Amino acid sequence: MDIFEAIAARRSVRKYKKGAQIPKSDIEKLLDAAMHAPSAVNSRPWEFYCSDKEEYKNALMAAHPASKMLETASWAIVVCARPESQPRHNFWQQDCAAAVENILLAARGLGYGTCWCGCYPAQPRTDDVKRAIGCESVPVAIVAVGVPDEDPPAKGYYDPDRAHFI
Ligand SMILES: Cc1cc2nc3c(=O)[nH]c(=O)nc-3n(C[C@H](O)[C@H](O)[C@H](O)COP(=O)(O)O)c2cc1C
Repeated sequence: MDIFEAIAARRSVRKYKKGAQIPKSDIEKLLDAAMHAPSAVNSRPWEFYCSDKEEYKNALMAAHPASKMLETASWAIVVCARPESQPRHNFWQQDCAAAVENILLAARGLGYGTCWCGCYPAQPRTDDVKRAIGCESVPVAIVAVGVPDEDPPAKGYYDPDRAHFI
């Protein structure tokens, strides 16, 4: 898929074909894309907790108030950060956001739908998600991944008034 097509066609998908199987090898492709994201001082402060287990997705839904699309998603990927890996900088949120976006675009390229569910810095969801997955790192986002059961159209968001050529 052309990169501009993937960018323009990506939309948040909140309804998936429940029970659809997505192989672990495809999730590894998404993580490969994520780990190619740029990173401040190349510190690569991320970790990814992935599961297709109902029990795990249910725990995340209970922890995050706006993640109900996990009910039909095939996988949940929790993108987490290790802030201590950037002792002199505080760019880990940006690094992880770049990793999340790579996941969304790569998933689109594979024909899957996704939804970004923000965690950090919102509380109590960040701590609740952390408890749900039992990690030491900081949950930045949950990404729902599934086979789309809705097809929100590309929006054409380009707004020339936001572009300043100086
Ligand atoms: C930082 C961030 C946090 C978000 N958190 C949520 C969320 O918790 N739940 C949700 O359903 N969508 C969430 N979204 C998705 C946005 O609602 C969505 O991207 C926006 O409405 C634009 O729609 P589009 O993605 O279809 O273009 C989040 C997006 C971002 C970038």
